[in-house]
Order: sequence, then structure tokens, then C-alpha cells
Amino acid sequence: DGQPAIGENALNRPLDRVRVDDSARELTTNQAVPVADNQNSLKAGLRGPTLMEDFILREKITHFDHERIPERVVHARGSAAHGYFESYEDLGDLTRAAPFTAAGKRTPVFVRFSTVAGERGSADTVRDVRGFAVKFYTDKGNWDLVGNNMPVFFIQDAMKFPDLIHAVKPEPHNGMPQAASAHDTFWDFASLSPEIAHMLLWHTSDRAIPRSYRMMQGFGVHTFRLVNAQGVSVFCKFHWSPMAGTHSLVWDEAARITGADPDFHRRDLWEAIDSGQFPEWELGLQIFTEDQVAKFPFDILDPTKIVPEEMVAVRTVGKMVLNRNPDNFFAETEQVAFCAAHVVPGVDFSDDPLLQGRLHSYIDTQISRLGGANFHEIPINTPVAQMHNNQRDGMHRQAINRGRVNYEPNSLAGGCPFQAGARGFVSFPEPQHGSKVRGKPELFADHYSQARLFWISQSLTEQRHIIAAFRFELTRVQTPAVRQRVLALLANIDEVLVASVAEGLGMSVPPPLPPATDRPPYDYPPSPGLSLFAR
Ligand code: HEM
Repeated sequence: DGQPAIGENALNRPLDRVRVDDSARELTTNQAVPVADNQNSLKAGLRGPTLMEDFILREKITHFDHERIPERVVHARGSAAHGYFESYEDLGDLTRAAPFTAAGKRTPVFVRFSTVAGERGSADTVRDVRGFAVKFYTDKGNWDLVGNNMPVFFIQDAMKFPDLIHAVKPEPHNGMPQAASAHDTFWDFASLSPEIAHMLLWHTSDRAIPRSYRMMQGFGVHTFRLVNAQGVSVFCKFHWSPMAGTHSLVWDEAARITGADPDFHRRDLWEAIDSGQFPEWELGLQIFTEDQVAKFPFDILDPTKIVPEEMVAVRTVGKMVLNRNPDNFFAETEQVAFCAAHVVPGVDFSDDPLLQGRLHSYIDTQISRLGGANFHEIPINTPVAQMHNNQRDGMHRQAINRGRVNYEPNSLAGGCPFQAGARGFVSFPEPQHGSKVRGKPELFADHYSQARLFWISQSLTEQRHIIAAFRFELTRVQTPAVRQRVLALLANIDEVLVASVAEGLGMSVPPPLPPATDRPPYDYPPSPGLSLFAR
């Protein structure tokens, strides 16, 4: 059908078009005019003023003046690499998504790992969530699986995301602290948002100080849908598991490394790939149906909940190998634009209200971060599959679309792009009903059952690390009422946890926060897989 075959090196073709080798070439201006002297500006006499006429100086300085672009509003600090995804099997019974149509099929990927809170130049080894964003350049368009290294999130609704991030980022009056959650505003917000309970335990656990990007899991977090060629849909949670195992630093190591080598994770990823030690992950799917969902003690649309592996096993379906470092950090790692709304036929969204808000946010922010509506033409963002539509113009347009017609329907063009029909992306026709309301489903209000599940699944050593992390973070909180409210939240999770944290702070244990629901908490059995020591 005229599409290029997609192989492991397919991404090289579009990128080759723009790769530049400057070595041993004559220096020129941006208009390719050879430059005679790159050391001295043009002056009226050797000791005289610089002349306005010096277009070479002005072009050089002007370009330099505009070298910086805004950093990402979140996940500003990151490192990335190229590689491929290989499907172990044909998953046609579950999905028609391009990466899974045949056993052994390879799809090129570009993967960016990141911290969330810190600025572009901040340290790698701080306590934070890590981003795990995968761009699949499939033969049916780009699919971005924009995940994190923890399977749950802080909040349940996109409406709260700007508040969460304002609370996490440095405080607006004095710009402190950099890249750390250990401050009043974060804990103030947390203590007033009890849905955060489960994520707080992941965040104070060893998962928040990974040993290496090569040694962390990745999760799609939300429930997604897979849809097969017959239009049958199942629910799906995505899991990446590193072949090198999941490993963490301990806090003392992390704190020292942050000072001694702020690029620790960036260097580790680069050097591993440079020396041929290619990091690998297996992709696992948790597949479940509407019937199963009806029996779960949690809501699958709630991103603060996992689907325990004891309830739905993880099916391993392929592996990802990162085997090539970027040529240019800015052109690739900085300019790459992931978006939770970038799906391909065979993958669809659920109604998770956090996911639904994300579908808007990414392209919106990238329009200002990357300067206009044409950032999909920046080489690292360009699909390997061919793009054809009637979108035109805008800042920095690269494509030279030919012909007289850029609309449809039309009768004038010999062959303008035509709708793909059933071969294209068709939204799963999920029936919808209900009144327009703001609010939450009832099960969203069970904030503590899965927080407790995480706690009881940790080894004693891991529990001690969590207690130490709460103590460290909360001793940085200056407002006693905030600390008090965090303790009241922890009192809903576990008695030992709250007593140990309170003791470390020299405070007494307050009564638990009143639960947000009358439903009794659900008693999950411990899940050994949640402990790093069990892996
Ligand atoms: C980056 C918004 C929740 C993972 C970003 C960016 C925005 C954003 C604006 C910067 C994008 C850019 O400049 O290119 C939101 C909103 C959320 C949300 C509004 C909730 C309503 C999440 C969740 C996850 C996640 C739940 C994980 C499942 C990421 C990752 C990046 C990112 C990995 C970095 C992508 C990269 O490496 O370039 N997010 N986010 N976000 N977000 Fe979210």
C-alpha cells in the first residue's frame, strides 16, 4: 500500500535526511555563505565601534539569543534512547495494534525516562516518580505509551493536576526547594487529598530512588482498551519489566550521588548503550473483561488503584531493547513530543477521568513548548508511516504540499487523501448514558485498602525505608498542622507505620481522618510481587 516496510532501522531513513556532519567543512552562515573570519567582528578601525553592517556577527548572536526553548512544565529532566520493540506472538485475538500483528515483528521505538518535579538541570537521583515514555513508530502511525515507574498516581481527576504540580514544584515566593517533595506545600496538598494515600507509600518507598533507568519497571497506569479486528474489546493495563531486575538505591546512596554526580542516571544509560550492554524490558499485559470488572472491589477507572496480579496475571507479550544513543540531545531528547492521545487502531482509551484530561494536555503544552502547530514535523516526532491530510500552513511548516486542493469533499483533485474507513482508527463504540455531573463513583472513595495492601506487601527492610522517608520529608515541613494531618492520614493505613513516623517527629498519634466512604475497607491479601525483594 505504498507504506515503507518498518524494520529496526526504519527510523534512520527519515532522520538521515536531517543528519548533518559538520566536521572538516568550510564554516558558513545560515545562508551557506562562507565565513572568512569567525574570531573578529567588523569594526571602524581596530579600536573603533562595531559596525551594524556586520551581518555575520548579528546572525551568530541572534541565533544564540534564541537557543533556549521552554522546558517541559513537568518531567523537564530526562534522558532518552532509540531501540525496538519485538512482539513474541501474534496478538490478533486481542488487538489489531500494529506492533502485535505477528510473532517476531519489530517496531522502532524512542524512549525517554525522566524525573517529574525537577528542572531541566536538576539531579537524577532525587526522591521522585520517574517518567517512562515510549514512542512506537508503527506502520499504522505513532503510538505513545506515556507511563511512569509506579503503577498508580497521586490524584483521580485531571481537574486537580495543576494544583498537584503547583504544590510539588518549588514554592512560588522563594523558588525553593529544587527537585524535592520535602516541603510544606506538597504535604499540605497531600494531607488534604486523601486519594493520595496509596501513591504516598510508593513515593516514600525505594521505588522512588531507582538504581538506574535500566532497572525500573514502567506502567501505563490507566486502564486502556484493546480492540481486535472484529471490534471486540478487552481492558488492559500495560507493564514494562526490566530484564536486569528492578533495583533501587538506598537513601544515603541517593543523597550522596545527587551531590557527587547529578547526571548519574543519564550517564549510566548512555554508557551502558555505548558499551553494547543494551537495556531490555519485557512488556506485560493484564487483560480483563467487563464481567471481571463488575466483581473487582475497586474501580478500574480510578488511577490510584492497581489490578493486583493475584486477581489478573500479567501476560508477557514482547520485549523492548534500547540499542542506540541519540546523536543530539536537543534535537531528539528535548524536542520529542509524547502524547497520551497518540494511539493507533487497536488501542483505545477508558473513561478514567485522569486519562481523559491528559488527552488534551500534551499537544496543548507542546504548541507553546515547541513553537506552533507543526511540531509533528520535527524529525524525532515524524511518523515512519506516511502522513497525508489537508492540514496546512502554520509557523515553521516544513512540508511542501503540492496541488490546488486542500479541502474535502472536492471534485478537482486527481487524488486527495481519502478516509480509511474500517482500516483506520475507529473509536470503540462504548455505550454512554447519564446526566452531566461533577463528582466521583463510589468506589473511588476507598483511599486506604490498596495503600494497606502495598504496606503489608513490603519486606521489613522496605517498611523501615518508608518510615525513614516519611520522617525525613516531614521534618522539613514547618507547619505542625500539616504534619498532624499527614499522620491522621497514615493512621488509616497502618498502626505501626503511623506510630513509627510520629515517634520520629516527636509527635503523638492523632485519630485517623474520617474515611470518605461508609463501605468497609477491602482486606487484600499481601501481594509478594509488590516487594522489590520478591522480584
Ligand atoms: C509530561 C500533563 C498525568 C506521564 C507531561 C507534560 C504535561 C503533562 C503537560 C509535559 C509534556 C511536554 O512538554 O512534552 C499531565 C496531566 C496529567 C498527567 C495534565 C493528569 C491529568 C500523568 C500520568 C503519567 C504521566 C498519570 C503516567 C502514567 C508523563 C510523562 C511525561 C509527562 C512520562 C514526560 C514525557 C516526556 O518524556 O517527554 N505531562 N500529565 N503524566 N507526563 Fe504527564
